[in-house]
Amino acid sequence: MIKKLALSALAALALSGTAAHAAGGESGHHTENVRFSFDGPFGAFDQNQLQRGLKIYTEVCSACHGLRYVPIRTLADEGGPHLPEDQVRAYAGNFEVFDPELDDFRAATPNDHFPMSNLENAPDLSLMAKARAAFHGPQGLGINQFLYGIGGPEHIVGILTGYTGETREQAGVTYYENTAFDSGWIAMAPPLAGQDVEFDDGHSNDLHHEAEDVAAFLMWAAEPKLMARKQVGFVAVTFLILLSVLLYLTNKRIWKPIKHRKKTV
Ligand code: HEC
Repeated sequence: MIKKLALSALAALALSGTAAHAAGGESGHHTENVRFSFDGPFGAFDQNQLQRGLKIYTEVCSACHGLRYVPIRTLADEGGPHLPEDQVRAYAGNFEVFDPELDDFRAATPNDHFPMSNLENAPDLSLMAKARAAFHGPQGLGINQFLYGIGGPEHIVGILTGYTGETREQAGVTYYENTAFDSGWIAMAPPLAGQDVEFDDGHSNDLHHEAEDVAAFLMWAAEPKLMARKQVGFVAVTFLILLSVLLYLTNKRIWKPIKHRKKTV
């Protein structure tokens, strides 16, 4: 019985594991899994990657998009980009925010949030990595999500690298063909071409690396406490396993005199 159960559990695991790679996006588009450092139950953000992603976000994406729910001070968080405090202060100074008390604009401080989108039709990216899911579906045990995440950052990589080069004009708006976008035509011009930013450490800045770095940064923006959540989850599961073992042994001991009554009497 136990053998049978174990076998079918294994088979289910194997099946759902391969399904992740075949799973379509929420739109039915194919989304490739990307091996992010934060995938899986023990995954963690890569501080250097987040810093590179921040740079790309700042120099390219922030021209149109905003991160209105992200406080600038969290750039100093351990487990996040972990920038030194003085750099965070200098970074905040690049933005202007409207202060209702002064009734005027002033330079942002670390306690302010990132600005909102500049461009009306560019969505805010604070929660984008959690709002889009590439690896979910009606079937499955959730093993894909357990191993690969929900595929939000993969969707972003897909968008940034999914341009075919085709464009079309509709009601005065230019649309760009994109294999990862729902309708297949997106109103965002390809924001990255590769070599868009230079990294001090000479890290690769080809299109794919840049797309992954900025997607990782946006995942952090959407879920800054991911690592803490995983740690708590791990402790909780370990505790529950220990508790189960102890309860099992206790149960055995409590019932022992009754189960063995015939022999002892
Ligand atoms: C020139 C302005 C502009 C720049 C620069 C820009 N975007 Fe966009 N972006 C847009 C617009 C406009 C849309 C909405 C497109 C639509 O709905 O058709 C959009 C949509 C998106 C979406 C949503 C896709 C979806 O599934 O709905 C993501 C993700 C995104 N951008 C990421 C980025 C990233 C990352 C960067 C920086 C590397 C960036 N964008 C740079 C204008 C821009």
